[in-house]
Parts: sequence; C-alpha cells; structure tokens
Amino acid sequence: MSDDALIVENIPIEGISPSDGVVSIWTLNRPEKLNALNSSSHEALKNACADAESDDSIRVIIIRGAPPLPAAEGKKQKPAAFAAGADISEFAGKNSDDVRPFFENNAWERVWNLSKPTIAMVDGFALGGGTELALSCDIRIASNRAKFGTPEINLGLIPGGGGTQRLSNIVGYGKAMEMVMTGDMIDADEALRLGLVNAVVEPEKLENFTMIMAQNIGKKSPYTIKVAKRAVRAALDLGMTDGILAERSEFVALFDTEDKEIGVQAFLERKEAKWKGN
Ligand code: COA
Repeated sequence: MSDDALIVENIPIEGISPSDGVVSIWTLNRPEKLNALNSSSHEALKNACADAESDDSIRVIIIRGAPPLPAAEGKKQKPAAFAAGADISEFAGKNSDDVRPFFENNAWERVWNLSKPTIAMVDGFALGGGTELALSCDIRIASNRAKFGTPEINLGLIPGGGGTQRLSNIVGYGKAMEMVMTGDMIDADEALRLGLVNAVVEPEKLENFTMIMAQNIGKKSPYTIKVAKRAVRAALDLGMTDGILAERSEFVALFDTEDKEIGVQAFLERKEAKWKGN
C-alpha cells in the first residue's frame, strides 16, 4: 500500500511469477524537505513493514529517498537525499512526555525487526534519523555523493532511533563516539572504509546495482534467507559460544526443510532450484 509519505512499488523477480516473488521498493517521498522523517513517514513505514510481513510474495525490501524535484523558478535546486533526519520541525516545543510514545513505537525498530532482507539505497544526504534508518537495514549501498552523519548533537540531542547502538556496532566505539560527539558528516568513501556501506557506485548506476543485488537475494529460498538473517543477527545479541550454538541449531533444523533437499538435489543434478519456501 502506498501513501503520500511513502511510495511502495513491487518489482517482479526475474524467473519468478510476481505472485511468488517481488522486490518491494519503498520511496520516502518528501523531496522538498530532503525526505526528513515526520510522523506520517513513520506511520507509512510501520504500515509497509506490517504489509511486508504478511505478504509472502515480498522477498526483499529496498528503502530509498525520492529524488529532488526540479527547482521552482528563482529557487535553488534541492540536493539529493535518502533522508536528512527526523523532521526537526516536529521537535519544537515538545517535552519528554510528548515524544516518548512516538520513540517507543518508531519505524526504525520496525524496519530493524523485519524478518525479510532490507537494503538501504542511499543517494545524497543520510543524516540523523536517515543514517539510523539506513543502519536499521541489513545492507547499505551508496552513491559516491552520499553523506552520512549524526548531527543531533547540534540540536542539543543524541541519536534516538537506535543510532548510538547500531553505529558503534558497525563502525566501532571510537568512530561512533567521534561521529555522535562532533556531528560531522562523512562521505561515501569513508563510509565504505568504515564498513558503514557495502558498496559505493556512481549515482546513475545506483539503482541498477542495488536491484541486481536485491534480485540475487530474492531468488534464494525465502525461508532459508530468513533463517540466515536470524543467524547472523544472533551475532549481535549473543556472545561467541551462544552464537555458535544458535547457528548450529538453525543449521541443523534446515535439514528438515523441503528447500534444503531441493537445493542439494538441484546442485547434484545441475539444475536451477525451484524453491518451495519451506
Ligand atoms: N527536518 C526538517 N526539515 C528539513 C530537515 C530536517 N531534518 N533537513 C532539511 N530540511 C528542509 C529544510 O528546512 C529546507 O526546507 P525549506 O526549503 O522549506 O526551507 C529543505 O529541507 C532543504 O534543506 P536546506 O537546508 O535548504 O538544504 P541545504 O542544501 O542548504 O542543506 C542539509 C542540506 C542536509 C545540510 C541541511 O538541510 C541540514 O543540515 N538538515 C538537517 C540535518 C539534521 O540535523 N538532521 C538530524 C535531525 S535529528
């Protein structure tokens, strides 16, 4: 379901009927405000997450920002953005009681908790809540003009969408401290060096590059992909010993699935696997 704040478009996966498998592209749609995440964006993202969980055909989700509109006469051209943060205008005059319910039920955690694979496709600014939304995704692909940062400190705030935790986990404690305390942006090359993004490509190649990766993931068994996500995610919550046990338990359980037998037989018979999804 699309609404004004978020456009949802489902693209068939090659070789799979659309009723069985699509890549769902979610476009944050406030280009005049650099796709800043307001209450409507959060509601739309939360609804899209609920729809994606209940729709078996959705195999992979790409989140992106709407490209800038042509400049109105006499106005300067707005820059490209994934999302330039939470909508700061919604912070004015609010106290903790006003914002707590919103932050306790936010879209960053819904995206993070999706059982399906998610890719942030970042062109331009991903700041504050925008960086946090990208961090809530499993994979980040950036254009070479992408910029990341957590500038909340300049507003007398800190990241509130899981940024302090997910950022430290990816870029390490020291760099996360630097980013959160200075509020300075980093460019795409530095983000790549830090492991904050998986790949950097030219802006005109971003969509194609991201779609090829999404289609590649979308062609795997959707059941096994969810297990893979759970197993890798366990590395964040469990220590090494418990994590290895969690992986082993997931791995062994896969031997009771149809898709494991389908995958193994397809390899042995040099055929393409036709997954059942269980
Ligand atoms: N919340 C609300 N509105 C935002 C926004 C945000 N986080 N980020 C950008 N906008 C709006 C601007 O107010 C402006 O609106 P207007 O044209 O109606 O005045 C429009 O988006 C374009 O932004 P502008 O600042 O004019 O573009 P720029 O190219 O000069 O600067 C940024 C781009 C990203 C550097 C700058 O917009 C910025 O610093 N944004 C805030 C980033 C931030 O602090 N995010 C964390 C929030 S918790």
